[in-house]
Amino acid sequence: MLAPDTITLGHAVMDRDHTDSLALWEAAKAAPAGALQAPFAAFARHLREHFARENALMTEHGFFALHCHMDEHARVLAVVATIEAELAEGQEDRGREYLRHHFPDWFYTHLATMDRVTADFLLRAAG
Ligand SMILES: [Fe+2]
Ligand SMILES: [Fe+2]
Repeated sequence: MLAPDTITLGHAVMDRDHTDSLALWEAAKAAPAGALQAPFAAFARHLREHFARENALMTEHGFFALHCHMDEHARVLAVVATIEAELAEGQEDRGREYLRHHFPDWFYTHLATMDRVTADFLLRAAG
């Protein structure tokens, strides 16, 4: 897994959220069998707040790719909500698979592309 300094974008709010995302992802991944629902809920709650903070920053500063980035957040939250519904019914398989493969693949790609471009824009906007 990448070291924390490789995820640093230089924007304090975003960097804090990305560190928190990884910590909550690790905690959920480490949940014993049959005990995924609560740590996944904490991870999901954080993602909703994290994406809402980025969406608000992009809106406030008029980021040029605002809708593309917001749509990507919405797409991920829809998948996360589906997994939460399955966990509520005691089905962990998809949640485990998502945490093991899909989330980290998506997270590092998103960080290196949309989040990096957004952070650079916000830093320039802040002057
Ligand atoms: Fe982010
Ligand atoms: Fe993002």
